[in-house]
Amino acid sequence: MKPFYITTAIDYANGSPHLGHAYEKVLTDVIARFRRQQGDQVHFLTGTDEHGQKVQASARRRGVEPQAFCDEVSGEFRAMLPRLQITNDDFIRTTEERHKRVVRDLLQRLFDQGDIYRAEYRGYYSARQEQFLQDKDRNPDGSWPEIFGEVGEITESNYFFRLKKYQPWLVSFLEANPDFVFPRFRQSQVLEFLKEPLNDLCISRPRERLSWGIPLPFDDGYVTYVWFDALTNYYSAVVDRPGVWPADYHVIGKDILVPPHAVYWMIMLQAAGLPLPRHILAHGWWLQRGAKMSKSTGNALNPLDLVDQFGSDAFRYFLMREMNVGQDSDFTLEQFLARYNGELANNLGNLVNRTLNMTTRFAEGVVPPAGAPGDAERELRELWERTSAECIALSEGFQFHTALERTMAFVAATNAYVEKRAPWKLGKSAEAADRELLRTSLATMAEALRLAVALLQHVMPAAAGRINEVLGHVPGPIWRDELAWGGRLAGKRVAASLVLFPRPTPPAAVTAG
Ligand code: MSP
Repeated sequence: MKPFYITTAIDYANGSPHLGHAYEKVLTDVIARFRRQQGDQVHFLTGTDEHGQKVQASARRRGVEPQAFCDEVSGEFRAMLPRLQITNDDFIRTTEERHKRVVRDLLQRLFDQGDIYRAEYRGYYSARQEQFLQDKDRNPDGSWPEIFGEVGEITESNYFFRLKKYQPWLVSFLEANPDFVFPRFRQSQVLEFLKEPLNDLCISRPRERLSWGIPLPFDDGYVTYVWFDALTNYYSAVVDRPGVWPADYHVIGKDILVPPHAVYWMIMLQAAGLPLPRHILAHGWWLQRGAKMSKSTGNALNPLDLVDQFGSDAFRYFLMREMNVGQDSDFTLEQFLARYNGELANNLGNLVNRTLNMTTRFAEGVVPPAGAPGDAERELRELWERTSAECIALSEGFQFHTALERTMAFVAATNAYVEKRAPWKLGKSAEAADRELLRTSLATMAEALRLAVALLQHVMPAAAGRINEVLGHVPGPIWRDELAWGGRLAGKRVAASLVLFPRPTPPAAVTAG
């Protein structure tokens, strides 16, 4: 079976990671874990994008060599991964030899077959974006949009990649594969972009202007344009692992879909005769008060502050619960706290506490076997059957926010079931029927908790592990089997208590940085 190969964008090694970077890793990890638990063999790649003007300039400002600068920043991105419980199988840096070799081979191949040519170019150039501009990029009043910074006119001899030649192919490919980009409305944006004729892509930068890059194999007076270099990471990382390429999903932000991923990368692969990725998933942005969170606007949140304070399970839960994949979301601490307190501490945490506490008080810490179900047990079980089927379908379609909402609704229904059965009252009675109902209610709440945890584990792996542990449950190898309602915990000894989501100590210290 071909491994399910999933990648994130590789982050620019020119500043510290922020919430947007963390989100992309968490989203990709949730998908990777979900696929693994469904039986796929997964290969999960992430990494850092280390060449180019921005990195060279940042290193210069700090007065260090670009390589030393990259080692430090890349190290910071890498160190974040275990703190977020990211289960990547590989981490690629574009300054590694294994990557540079593949970029050079690819360039040489495209050059030899005539898809890369040399030409004079005179045009407007944005140093900040490392991009040549055209008049159509101007604002209606003739000025240049701010994102380009200072724009100058330059003439240069450069190397160009024949994008235009492949435009008709790309359009027909996208038309034949309407599910290529998720969400679908983003695929329409790609086609919209392709209504205009493409220009060939300048893939070289003269050394005197930029030295921090991969030299062109056929002209070492130039280094490779950073996007051509960076995109190749997805392939270079697995070139020595037969059967892994092509990627099943490239997970990226919406800002880098068009043109880099949906146009340049697709045409690079097609021109090189390599198999194409199966899908691109373009997620939205985390905003703060309506503006994209980014380092340059100074409104970026340090994800690790939230992790320090609330734990990485709560952090992952919030990101997945709050954001509808593909749309933008505003981040506010109030909303984070509302979900933390309401959904994690009060709803899930409460069910954990009650289960442990009542099993300890009324059954000497051992989950009893369930007796014959009454209406309340039957209703809860029916809700479970619906919830689990829905959550699988929703998660397969990346609707994690709704799947979590449904799972938490099931947890809430279990809490309501406990209120209704009131084991604390049954525990006072010596009647045989009450003793039986007590056993049934304790068994039912424990089983419902175990099941809910099976639907949460790809989002909150550590919390799921701890709850299973205190329930004395060791999940079996087949995840689907874990979803079957079956009184699996009868006879298991539970722990007396577990504090999973402690009340935050005010004031919540989350800093912008
Ligand atoms: N280096 C390029 C990607 C090359 S991939 C071959 C790059 N790096 S980046 O550091 O600017 O962004 C990395 C990823 O983080 C991108 O997918 C980007 O969309 C994502 N995010 C950056 N800011 C974001 C938010 N505020 N919200 C969500 N994700 C955003 O682009």
